[in-house]
Amino acid sequence: MLLHEEEILTRVNTLATEIQGVYSTVTELTIVALLNGCLIFAADLLRRLTIPTRLESLSVESYRGATHSSGVVTFKQALPDLRGREVLVVDDILDTGRTLAAVIDQVRQAGAASIRTCVLLKKRRGRAVNVEADFWGFEIDDLFVVGYGLDYAGRLRNLPYIAILQERAD
Ligand code: XMP
Repeated sequence: MLLHEEEILTRVNTLATEIQGVYSTVTELTIVALLNGCLIFAADLLRRLTIPTRLESLSVESYRGATHSSGVVTFKQALPDLRGREVLVVDDILDTGRTLAAVIDQVRQAGAASIRTCVLLKKRRGRAVNVEADFWGFEIDDLFVVGYGLDYAGRLRNLPYIAILQERAD
């Protein structure tokens, strides 16, 4: 086990406080949640925000096979109209940075007034593209992790904690 459920939820609480501090003067915040991975994180985070908040979700795919990034980010639908909106992009994990970079680019084109990013996990290893998260929960080593929304070939998202996936050698 890498992160226990209690540890995750305590950190989600403090993240919500940090986010509210930054957005305390805006009339409304728009969360753009990247599905499926951030579904559980976004649901927990959202319920801790007391500022006026709207939710948009985007289905984005960057993995081909179970544990390797294809390097190509695919959007499964068009973005909503984000003109003039204060956008916080929420994702499960920041790894190479390609997903966040591609989403930031699209959100900008959709007319957002401001764009920040929040991830539950970020890998310590260097990014393939120049992007960092404004808010993050935990920094982790370069491991493949599952649970709390993160999957292995579509499975294990339902684990309430985060675990390191150990692939069999045979
Ligand atoms: P990039 O490389 O674009 O990766 O920053 C972000 C997306 O890749 C997926 N990802 C993972 N998914 N365990 C997972 O279940 C991992 O360890 C992992 N690392 C990257 C994830 O979909 C994320 O949004």
